[in-house]
Amino acid sequence: MTSSIILVTGSTRGIGAAIAETLTLRGAQVLSHGRRPAPGVIGADLAEPSAPQRLWEQALDLSSGTIDVLINNAGLFEANPLDGSDIAWLDGWEDTLRINLTSAAQLSRFALRHWLERGVPGRIVHIASRAAYRGDSPAHWHYAAAKGGMVALHKTIARGYAAHGILSFAITPGFTATAMADDYLASRGGPALLADIPLGRVATPQEIATIAAFCALDAPPSMTGAVIDANGASFVR
Ligand SMILES: NC(=O)c1ccc[n+]([C@@H]2O[C@H](COP(=O)([O-])OP(=O)(O)OC[C@H]3O[C@@H](n4cnc5c(N)ncnc54)[C@H](OP(=O)(O)O)[C@@H]3O)[C@@H](O)[C@H]2O)c1
Repeated sequence: MTSSIILVTGSTRGIGAAIAETLTLRGAQVLSHGRRPAPGVIGADLAEPSAPQRLWEQALDLSSGTIDVLINNAGLFEANPLDGSDIAWLDGWEDTLRINLTSAAQLSRFALRHWLERGVPGRIVHIASRAAYRGDSPAHWHYAAAKGGMVALHKTIARGYAAHGILSFAITPGFTATAMADDYLASRGGPALLADIPLGRVATPQEIATIAAFCALDAPPSMTGAVIDANGASFVR
């Protein structure tokens, strides 16, 4: 599948950028996405309910009407303290759920309909989180809930559409050395947090990209429905 056309959301930086680079080196045609448009980047702010549809349509325009793989990677990790105002807490909850879960579900739906209408196979790779299983900090109920929802969405898609050749994979990274993780590590006491990771370090974006590229291009169909942990044994299920 080296000539696959792959939409990678949130590929302007961090894990998504590493995924895009790895897939490009493998010969895939990558459609990149970020909040704002830039050369070679489709801009769509996933906090807006209509953005996933615009993103999907622009991606199809750029790829002459074919997308083989969707990688739901874009995500927001922003603290939502309990002692904020009621409306601020609710806004924080809804923003994170929309960006991290609802937009991924909308894009997955567009992808599924695209493949089902054409009778062709397809793959979805969801970048979830260790938080889906372990939970997260007291200021991140929304983040853990969104990632738990993403894993449930992934399993449902895998079970529902395998017979059509549509496969779904989920990756659940622990801390990964990106801006998102750096902010979090700093806010939680920095290096002391590493004591919780038997490997002694956080993951690199390249490690997660290697797993994502495997899921997008190589994973055998019988692996559909799998959730792949990458957390340095900090959470062993
Ligand atoms: N880093 C970790 O420790 C870690 C651990 C587990 C799971 N993950 C997951 O891995 C994925 C990537 O994380 P990362 O660490 O690489 O994050 P990052 O460095 O903060 O990058 C986030 C990406 O998502 C995009 N994005 C954020 N909000 C968006 C919005 N409203 N609309 C459109 N795009 C938006 C960003 O686009 P812009 O550049 O335009 O803002 C950027 O490309 C996320 O789903 C995250 O939850 C990360």
